[in-house]
Amino acid sequence: MKKVQDFKVKEFQWLNDDNYIIKLQSDEEVPEISAGQFAELKIPRSPDVFLRRPLSILDYHKKENSLSFYVKIIGKGTRQLGQLPKGETVNVIYPLGNSFNTENVNNALIIGGGSGIAPFILLARELQRQKIDTTFLIGGRTKKDVFLTDAFAMFGEVLLTTEDGSLGEKGLVTQHSVFKNKKFDFDKIYTCGPNPMMKAVSYIAKEKEVACEASLENMMACGFGACLCCVTETADGNKCVCTEGPVFDTNYLTW
Ligand SMILES: Cc1cc2nc3c(=O)[nH]c(=O)nc-3n(C[C@H](O)[C@H](O)[C@H](O)COP(=O)(O)OP(=O)(O)OC[C@H]3O[C@@H](n4cnc5c(N)ncnc54)[C@H](O)[C@@H]3O)c2cc1C
Ligand code: FES
Repeated sequence: MKKVQDFKVKEFQWLNDDNYIIKLQSDEEVPEISAGQFAELKIPRSPDVFLRRPLSILDYHKKENSLSFYVKIIGKGTRQLGQLPKGETVNVIYPLGNSFNTENVNNALIIGGGSGIAPFILLARELQRQKIDTTFLIGGRTKKDVFLTDAFAMFGEVLLTTEDGSLGEKGLVTQHSVFKNKKFDFDKIYTCGPNPMMKAVSYIAKEKEVACEASLENMMACGFGACLCCVTETADGNKCVCTEGPVFDTNYLTW
């Protein structure tokens, strides 16, 4: 059930100059949230950011009524969110969108690039709960752009790529040697990140005949299916990423 709820800024964890985790806490109960769902955050007291900003839910704790988000600073909204004082009120609409499908999965490969790692802590927890083997393949431009690897390592093996070779294998995630191994026995790929990356991952999945889901990060405004600014083309016509996504079977996308 979708909620509109006030939270207070509890704490920040800065990962570097332009990446942080923000934790929000509320007096009201936090509902169950499924892996892949997101929230729309109103930036308080902003003179120039009027629309809410969509962020994947990184984690939540029902006992402490808290939500956390991993944020990469892109423009005014994500910068101003990172400058809020502790105790400031942030209005949040959540949980929004659909979630990853984990049915009939035995061996999952999660591929994340850039801020596309955010939905994967909740997914990893769900896969672990279902005793599904999970491997992570995380990529960034340099080692300074790769985050949360310690958190992922609690759920499975973590493979890394960087474009400059400063961490893990040199190259793009789609060039990792895992795809060249004869024994590629994953039966599901989950991906989130820049569109060209997800597109390339979906081609590999098709070639290897592995089911694949991508979590799209199209630009959004209303977040509830009214403005149509988030639509993506699918085999079944245009779909709103905010209400019918953000997670799509990549065979269904026309990219
Ligand atoms: C479902 C969903 C989940 C997301 N989850 C996360 C997350 O967990 N962590 C995270 O850091 N980011 C996430 N994003 C992206 C995040 O919403 C944008 O980075 C943010 O809205 C940018 O706002 P801004 O005010 O900082 O930048 P703006 O000033 O609005 O924009 C600055 C630049 O960023 C581009 N931009 C704006 N919005 C988006 C967008 N949605 N996607 C790509 N480029 C954009 C604009 O074209 C512009 O050039 C998610 C987006 C969606 C749709
Ligand atoms: S953001 Fe308005 S329809 Fe999706």
